[in-house]
Amino acid sequence: MSRDILLQASDVSKSFGAVRVLHEVSFDVYRGEVLGILGPNGAGKTTLFNMISGDIKPSGGDIRLGGVALSAEPPFKRCRMGIGRTYQIPRPYSGMTTFENLLVAAAFGGGRTERESYAFCAQVLTDCELADKANTPSGSLTLLDRKRLELARALASDPRLLLLDEIAGGLTDEESRALVALVRRIRDRGVTIVWIEHVLHALMAVADRLMVLNFGEKIAEGLPQDVISNPEVKRVYMGVEA
Ligand SMILES: Nc1ncnc2c1ncn2[C@@H]1O[C@H](COP(=O)(O)OP(=O)(O)OP(=O)(O)O)[C@@H](O)[C@H]1O
Ligand SMILES: [Mg+2]
Repeated sequence: MSRDILLQASDVSKSFGAVRVLHEVSFDVYRGEVLGILGPNGAGKTTLFNMISGDIKPSGGDIRLGGVALSAEPPFKRCRMGIGRTYQIPRPYSGMTTFENLLVAAAFGGGRTERESYAFCAQVLTDCELADKANTPSGSLTLLDRKRLELARALASDPRLLLLDEIAGGLTDEESRALVALVRRIRDRGVTIVWIEHVLHALMAVADRLMVLNFGEKIAEGLPQDVISNPEVKRVYMGVEA
């Protein structure tokens, strides 16, 4: 059975000067799935997201959303095309309140009247458990709430592809269960998700497939159980001798 591909990366490479960070990485993201990305620090995971969102340009290769090549599109255009992302280091507009941050993101995403945006952002705030912080300046939120705001901002742009970069780190077990439940609800609404995460149990709880990067190369991809029992993955990622 052929599956419907939303994002297609073909031979994507990136070098910074002489330093090769990603080497000919190819993968597909199927519509409606949660794809988890694992890999040691420095493997090139965030760099991959930066090239999908358009923050940096690949040195080689091709990335397509719904069959449309992204290379010529600037970040705001990719946002409008339906790519939403979080940043590993939260970057809210710190002078604005939580709610104002969402309104800006919603305006970037486009497609809604101002009145619709208000209602939509209020719903996103509730979903992300930030309703009681709506009027708090985002600069004074705790780290956990800034992470929630990252996710909320990405959702407010109404993505069809959501890229999550390490949003579970530092959470308690209960908080991380709530986050997993939220990610499931987002997926169930039809959003396709790619989630980079070191917190393996969170990823295992929701990912349909996993992909593992190491030193800028894809070393495994497939069903979560198969991937984590792959000897090379155990060796490089979990520090276990094969
Ligand atoms: N703008 C840049 N200039 C030079 N080197 C960079 C740049 N961005 C990333 N790198 C390097 O590329 C490599 C991959 O970085 P990247 O942030 O993609 O890793 P990562 O897999 O996300 O790691 P982590 O799990 O720590 O977040 C690292 O060695 C990093 O130092
Ligand atoms: Mg990273």
